[in-house]
Amino acid sequence: MQVTVSRKAHFNAAHRLYRKDWSMEQNDKVFGKCNNPNFHGHNYELIVSVTGEIDPETGFVIDLKILSDLIKEHIEEAFDHKNLNLDVPDFQDVNPTAENICVVIWQKLRPFISTENDLEVTLYETPRNFVSYKGN
Ligand code: NI
Repeated sequence: MQVTVSRKAHFNAAHRLYRKDWSMEQNDKVFGKCNNPNFHGHNYELIVSVTGEIDPETGFVIDLKILSDLIKEHIEEAFDHKNLNLDVPDFQDVNPTAENICVVIWQKLRPFISTENDLEVTLYETPRNFVSYKGN
């Protein structure tokens, strides 16, 4: 019996989508307004889901307090009120698209989740635009 436990979280961050090795014209063509050199912000919403067997002793798949603390320590502390391009080493050479942010979040959390459990991260960049990653 596989059960999924999810925790929602939130952070505000600024970013700019561009490639250093492309001209301004090429970056504008592909990334449009997201290539604004002065950056722009998003209210990112995050759903972290852990799937696995219910522990017969506790009745939990994962203690939500533990999951909440992991997200706080490894994601919110690292990303909230940051400029992703300038302040977060993970995006030094990685374009901080919703896709790449989602993968980085998954990679940061995966070591702390039991190997018997599956991890899925869904990241909302806007209320209508969201991406998911589950390690494949
Ligand atoms: Ni953006």
